[in-house]
Amino acid sequence: MIPCQRHLFDIPDDIAYLNCAYIGAIPNSVRDIGLVGAARKSQPWHIHPPDFFTDAEAGRELFARLVNASPEDIAVIPAASYGTATAARNLPVTAGQRILVLEDQFPSNVYPWRELARARDAAILTVPRPADDNWTAAILSVMDERVAIAALPHIHWTDGGLIDLVAVGERCRAVGAALVVDGTQSVGALPFDVQAIQPDFLAVATYKWLLGPYGLGYLYVAPKWQNSEPIEHNWIDRKGSENFAGLVAYQDDFQPGARRFDVGERGNIHLLPMANAAVSQLLDWGVAEIQETLQARTERMAERAADLGIQCLPPEGRAGHYLGFRFPGGVPEGLADRLAAAQVYVSVRGATAMRVTPHLWVNDADEDRFFEVLEAALRA
Ligand SMILES: Cc1ncc(COP(=O)(O)O)c(C=O)c1O
Repeated sequence: MIPCQRHLFDIPDDIAYLNCAYIGAIPNSVRDIGLVGAARKSQPWHIHPPDFFTDAEAGRELFARLVNASPEDIAVIPAASYGTATAARNLPVTAGQRILVLEDQFPSNVYPWRELARARDAAILTVPRPADDNWTAAILSVMDERVAIAALPHIHWTDGGLIDLVAVGERCRAVGAALVVDGTQSVGALPFDVQAIQPDFLAVATYKWLLGPYGLGYLYVAPKWQNSEPIEHNWIDRKGSENFAGLVAYQDDFQPGARRFDVGERGNIHLLPMANAAVSQLLDWGVAEIQETLQARTERMAERAADLGIQCLPPEGRAGHYLGFRFPGGVPEGLADRLAAAQVYVSVRGATAMRVTPHLWVNDADEDRFFEVLEAALRA
């Protein structure tokens, strides 16, 4: 168990921030590195050509360690949607085949597939939310040879519903389907093992559970897809781009591995050093340890909620860093306002659900204040 890490964050005592799934807080050390990055830009003579490469290479290495991949398989991207677009650009789908997504899946992992399905005369197969909340069984029950691509998360972003991606990955390989994973709501807080799951593509934005900046992400690309097409063509991804004097000796060849999928201006001197410090911190804590620690918190919170008649997924069916509260009689009137007035931050979504997503900065006082507001709203 990791002790509360509040001292590393700029979160005052009177703020209860239980909304990491919305935007993760960056540690103070990461913020300070961001300030240094901004200051460097005001004195650009301190920025040297190798700087456009070294931070990205360090980022690949750190993210690869986080998901048990090789740095060669990692591309630098600006958003999860850029990663799913890259996958959609390259995965084969023919007329009549199916692309599988989940009901209410996050749009960055839906829109590219709708476009692809339209372009190829293929179909979107949406797995409805199962009555027993067992997504894995529901996915496996429809995964047959007609499915060309399974585009999935590791957990459902609304309530943390967990998917057994090792089992789904096995089935994908058995039926000849590609597996594309959006890990934005899980990687960094829930262990992800590329060797065990064997995705074709894995896209992750850094601004939630990687505790990094907005506007940056990583894309794992399985070696068998690394000769395929990037969605844009920029100078830095081409062979020999380190030689600034030779940039107009135009090259048909790319930098090796997954680097051809890097976004333009990927040598981001502002965001990459921040992301690198954040991922280093996660590796120091250990992802399994983060998950175990957050799970202890959410299990306790789920029990306290159950005493108030509020349901959430059972521990075996959800990720430990996530809670989706279901109010049988609807979200109490005025709850969102009461929470805001008490500086308690969660996501109230729709009329019946609330998403509660703590990180290591959350302490017992935050938890107690959340329940005080909730109980008062239920009594009112
Ligand atoms: C599951 C999931 N994926 C991706 C994102 C962000 O997507 P993008 O980086 O394309 O803006 C979010 C944001 O809420 C999300 O919940």
